[in-house]
Amino acid sequence: MFNIFKKKKDENNRGDQYLSLKIREIVKETPDTVTVFFEQPEPFLEYKPGQYITVILDLGGKEVRRSYSLCTSPFIDPHPGITVKRVKGGLVSNYINDQLRPGKTIEIMKPLGHFTTDFHSKNKRHFVMVAGGSGITPIMGIAKSALINEPESKVTILYCSRSEDQIIFKNQLEKLENQYPGRITVVHNLSQPNPTWSGLKGRLDATKIKESLSPSAFPAYTSSLYFVCGPEGLMETAIHSLESMGVPNDLIYKESFFSDIEAKEADLKASGKLAPELTREIEVVVNGESHHFEVPAGKTILEAGLDRDVDMPYSCQSGLCTACRGKLTSGKVDMIEDAGLSESEIAEGYILCCSSKPASSDIKIVIE
Ligand SMILES: Cc1cc2nc3c(=O)[nH]c(=O)nc-3n(C[C@H](O)[C@H](O)[C@H](O)COP(=O)(O)OP(=O)(O)OC[C@H]3O[C@@H](n4cnc5c(N)ncnc54)[C@H](O)[C@@H]3O)c2cc1C
Ligand code: FES
Repeated sequence: MFNIFKKKKDENNRGDQYLSLKIREIVKETPDTVTVFFEQPEPFLEYKPGQYITVILDLGGKEVRRSYSLCTSPFIDPHPGITVKRVKGGLVSNYINDQLRPGKTIEIMKPLGHFTTDFHSKNKRHFVMVAGGSGITPIMGIAKSALINEPESKVTILYCSRSEDQIIFKNQLEKLENQYPGRITVVHNLSQPNPTWSGLKGRLDATKIKESLSPSAFPAYTSSLYFVCGPEGLMETAIHSLESMGVPNDLIYKESFFSDIEAKEADLKASGKLAPELTREIEVVVNGESHHFEVPAGKTILEAGLDRDVDMPYSCQSGLCTACRGKLTSGKVDMIEDAGLSESEIAEGYILCCSSKPASSDIKIVIE
């Protein structure tokens, strides 16, 4: 097989962000979700709970990359793991569910991401978490890390699934509730439960969120922090509801797995918010090395750079993961999706090359 890791390392001498991981075990979590555990590399994989890795595969002779959050905790799990749910018609999620086998080695980009926090044994915090479907993956890693590292902190997870057999980590979550009595509460909400289900059901709404997660229900905890990860609609409901409960937006950690970037671009175009698409010459500095290249009309800065074999980092290619983040030091771009960036990063001039197109001449972007 084409060895992507070797290619990057040899040609670009920047192999330090790429790594090979050998698959140790694959566990079926639900009919359409698996967890892939990796052997620890030497030295051990360093990551923070809630971060993601970029899986790089050669499928049909083409390099494909996807981001997958680590479901494990570096503090207790001996082997790092990712949990992958099938997307209908999806290339990589179905390949991983159907064809990946223990013993195979795959290439990855090292863990990245800001959907995480630091832990301290003296903290007395309430981790308030809302997850939908595979969005439980990073939340599981963070919850386990909070329980082991912060004996006085508490975790509440409001977890939305379609039906009982679709609940990822159902047994593991029950085990945690037994292992840490009173310190973790998991409230399940099912959108299509069978008739015997006695828990929350139907669409997630503000009332359910308020009843399950209201800060006034947890007065003993000195501070709360909020993590939301799941489908777009669920995230919007959760974030608006938390805000209406008085939670400041900057206390809410958000991780999106999917953005329909083409639809967003079409909306922006229709409302006249995008500059005319022209072919532009730009400069991109990657780790101190300067590259000048043309971005043809209609292409993103990342697409044009990769077409020219510039080793620009990337993962999700939809403006969510920030692997392609760079600082715009001159010129203007139209950024179609900026969900991965914080307001302060945008104010400082950071852009996402995978979702940006040139909107002026004299563009210079620095990627470090
Ligand atoms: C930071 C980050 C972390 C992630 N972590 C996880 C994780 O822990 N577990 C996990 O299962 N996935 C995770 N994802 C999503 C994952 O990276 C892939 O996007 C997903 O597996 C689909 O890839 P695919 O190749 O199967 O589908 P593709 O072949 O890329 O897409 C097939 C079709 O489905 C649409 N589509 C793709 N994804 C979705 C979606 N989520 N909802 C609706 N339509 C979609 C596409 O637009 C396309 O039309 C994460 C994404 C990001 C950005
Ligand atoms: S590659 Fe993920 S934000 Fe650009």
